[in-house]
Amino acid sequence: MTEETPTVDMDKIVSLSQRRGFVFPSSEIYGGLSGFWDYGPLGVEMKRNVKDAWWRRNVRERDDMVGLDSSIIMHPKVWEASGHVASFSDPLVECKVCHLRWKADDLKENRCPSCGGELTEERMFNTMFKSFVGPVEEAASVVYLRPETAQGMFVDFEAVSSSIRKKLPFGIAQQGKAFRNEITTGNFIFRSREFEIMEFEFFVKPGTDDKWFEYWVEERFSFYTRLGVKKEHLDLHPHPKEKLAHYARACTDIIYRFPHGWSELEGIANRQAYDLSQHAKASGKTIEYFDDETKEHYVPYVIEPSVGVDRCFLALLCDAYREEPDKDETRVVLGLHPDIAPVKVAILPLSKKPNLAALARDVYAGVRPAFMTTYDETQSIGRRYRRQDEIGTPYCVTVDFQSLEDNRVTIRERDRMNQIRVPTATLKHTLLAKLGGEDFLKVPEGGEVVAGAGKP
Ligand code: GAP
Repeated sequence: MTEETPTVDMDKIVSLSQRRGFVFPSSEIYGGLSGFWDYGPLGVEMKRNVKDAWWRRNVRERDDMVGLDSSIIMHPKVWEASGHVASFSDPLVECKVCHLRWKADDLKENRCPSCGGELTEERMFNTMFKSFVGPVEEAASVVYLRPETAQGMFVDFEAVSSSIRKKLPFGIAQQGKAFRNEITTGNFIFRSREFEIMEFEFFVKPGTDDKWFEYWVEERFSFYTRLGVKKEHLDLHPHPKEKLAHYARACTDIIYRFPHGWSELEGIANRQAYDLSQHAKASGKTIEYFDDETKEHYVPYVIEPSVGVDRCFLALLCDAYREEPDKDETRVVLGLHPDIAPVKVAILPLSKKPNLAALARDVYAGVRPAFMTTYDETQSIGRRYRRQDEIGTPYCVTVDFQSLEDNRVTIRERDRMNQIRVPTATLKHTLLAKLGGEDFLKVPEGGEVVAGAGKP
């Protein structure tokens, strides 16, 4: 951990998000609703990219993971068995700084025992949102909006494992909405009342759980560094044994240096057999794994890495934001990884003249099926570049009058502002290669590096 590099100001992230259509307060025309947010045209693309990157890495690229999309509203007994109904119904106070909750009766002073922060008023607290199934609002029809997606994977363990016939270890992964009636929300989308979770339950043979826990901590950490998150902004926070839930054998948070301070980005827990055993007990069903090799029946242990999509989105946005001097102005750049950037390529005709616009439209039509592309012909080329830099578009393609003669276009990269000129016929292929990580200055046949462009 180092405190040397300054972090971005959250106000700048909020302002950029609103101005450019990443995230808006929900129901803003009515004054907004605390803890609820809407993702705008760019935000929705970026959020989808975050979820896709996670899904690709954890599900599609692995032989030992499968997906699930379970319902948001589940049988109310699920939340009794999981402990959510009981464990959130105490009179609690919450620390306004670190958000730890405490039983007011257990406190000697009126400050947070962990960080000394100010505490909220005491209240009976259950963070689950309640609703009713059917037309009558009575106790028997109470249901909850899920506060996590995990329980769907435990409850469906038998159904999934018998349908896929996988041997242990294997995991079930899920992404989806979760709802928590948080007493304190804040720090933009860091803590909301409606958010999305990406998590998986990785089931292992008891005795191999420590090894898998270590594996997943390392693997999940590298997910962020591979997406370009600065190592000095990430760290691991193993929970001390005495602070673990009674069923957890280990828990480590991946923490990120958010503008408001170091905070949990993702939690990885070794929950042993707790959840499956609880559901087996409460439902009266057997939930076990039969090991073909040893001919044993046992309840698998589980390792659970869990991260909020919105929190991951915020970390990526903050980490990517930078300001650079640019002649007399400031260039704002979102240095997002190409997999995460909401728009991959912008097609920019140098002028709106019909013959040039027609060619530019053709170029646009040729590449847009391959990746998210935008077309912009308003204002000067310099301003258009800046607009794309600010939303993190990795490549801009300029179509100029010479393109009409030589069938070549110019690609300009966001980070170093180098330029290459390439044959239009190879454009899609070239852009795909660059988006996949190819050296920008490597040009296809018939192309060349534009001299004098780029940062000195
Ligand atoms: N199934 C495990 C679980 O739900 P959690 O630590 O309560 O664990 C997982 O939540 C992740 O969800 C957190 O690490 C955080 O990234 C995100 N998260 C939790 N509460 C959130 C909230 N109110 N708003 C946004 N994200 C939240």
